[in-house]
Amino acid sequence: MVVTIVGSQLGDEGKGGIVDRWSESADIVVRYQGGDNAGHTVVDGEDTYKLSLVPSGTVRGRVGVLGNGCVVNPETLLSELDALRERGLDPDLKVARRAHVIFPYHCALDGIEERAKEDKELDAGTTGRGIGPTYEDKAGRRGIRIGDLLDPEVLRGRLEYVVPQKRALAESVFGVETGESFDIDRLYEDYKQYGERLREEDMTVNAGAYLEREREAGGEILFEGAQGTVLDIDHGNYPFVTSSNPTAGGASVGSGLGPGVVGQGETIGVVKAYLSRVGTGPLPTELGGVEGQTPGYEASEGNADRDDTDDGEDAEREEALATEIREAGGEYGTVTGRPRRVGWLDLPMLRHAARASSFSGLAINHVDTLAALDSVRVCERYDLAGESLATIPARTERWSRCEPVYREFDGWPDADWERVVEEGYGALPENARAYLEYVSDEVKVPIAAVGVGPGREQTIVLDDPFEHSD
Ligand code: GDP
Ligand code: IMO
Ligand code: MG
Repeated sequence: MVVTIVGSQLGDEGKGGIVDRWSESADIVVRYQGGDNAGHTVVDGEDTYKLSLVPSGTVRGRVGVLGNGCVVNPETLLSELDALRERGLDPDLKVARRAHVIFPYHCALDGIEERAKEDKELDAGTTGRGIGPTYEDKAGRRGIRIGDLLDPEVLRGRLEYVVPQKRALAESVFGVETGESFDIDRLYEDYKQYGERLREEDMTVNAGAYLEREREAGGEILFEGAQGTVLDIDHGNYPFVTSSNPTAGGASVGSGLGPGVVGQGETIGVVKAYLSRVGTGPLPTELGGVEGQTPGYEASEGNADRDDTDDGEDAEREEALATEIREAGGEYGTVTGRPRRVGWLDLPMLRHAARASSFSGLAINHVDTLAALDSVRVCERYDLAGESLATIPARTERWSRCEPVYREFDGWPDADWERVVEEGYGALPENARAYLEYVSDEVKVPIAAVGVGPGREQTIVLDDPFEHSD
């Protein structure tokens, strides 16, 4: 069986926890896109792991693979591995020789371009990990791959071609002085050493061929998506996106197993029971705002430039609600520590995500976080200047003008979630079930799991995808 886990919203839906939960039945866990912009949390009893590159299944001792679709910062990778080893884990990690390498000049250029875009409000609020510039070089056929680190002569030749271009870009186009990050000799020495360590630890593989061999030998494969559908470079709200394809098609392209293999398996969309976003770009159901991220928002003015709030009191109530949800859900970036923007669940977004990835099931997290609110809202559809939209429009500018049309649900009380997990779905508060079933009906995808806490044991499983036959 092959199971793909995809973020259905804007990242941080709790993919790490769901991957950890279902790693129980998997042999290999594969990241197929993104890099150390991801921050996936696994809570195993008292131990919390925040993983950027190492696949979440390695916490349970499963083999981890970084597929060809990933961009890999070897420094982060090796230090994350070392840190996990210090904590007593022994991750068995393999990296695709076709995966692209993030160099320090990519990280520098990420910051330089973000700053240059600020005036035009085109900056995405990136994680600064060099993700975009690395994928740019991949598409521009001047990237350097993990396999190239294994051959110093090839590495040197590639650096000699690309680094002067990057230096000229930084200095001549952006007018920024460059330093060590653009020094060929320095980069060559450091990255040659990373290559040596990858070789010594026998970590590189021809990922597609490796996965196919393992699959034929009966291995169960779990794909771990990073980011989420609305951050997808094709299906997200461009340009406020990441530079890869978190949607399920990415699992095929980014691993070397064909779409037939991925498509014959199960695809689970991970949903947060509300919304969070870290970074810029529109968010029609946003509550309140976060300075520096919410477009046009300034804390002192409250929610001033949104015309859907009647008066200052409403804006204040929204701010208070946002703070309550942010605190209850621990909505602070795993990678950057930035406060996350929060909003109500958005069904047009989920319909778009379900279509783009052919979800066979939903894993809906954070049902506990919304507990104790008097009422909970869901955006059923958008109103755009009198037009009713059931899904996200293709143009971001139009999306930013969409007004949510809400349905309101009675809230549900806080509960003894441990008991709820023990007793199963039926033990969830009735109003929570009404909410979940409404969402599932509207998105036309059955519920596979419900998260009621961050811990491994705090997920109610209704339908384990690994129990479906091939
Ligand atoms: P990911 O990037 O999708 O893996 O998600 P993150 O790890 O960045 O953020 C999700 C956060 O919510 C983490 O702190 C998780 O431990 C936590 N979490 C996941 N599921 C639940 C849930 O059902 N309830 C609560 N309260 N927390 C959850
Ligand atoms: P996980 O896997 C939430 C956001 C950034 C920014 C945009 C582009 O933990 O869900 P990038 O550095 O990728 O070029 O930034 O995407 N972003 C994420 N938001 N969760 C993530 O990963 C994210 N990875 C990137 O905030 O808006
Ligand atoms: Mg995250």
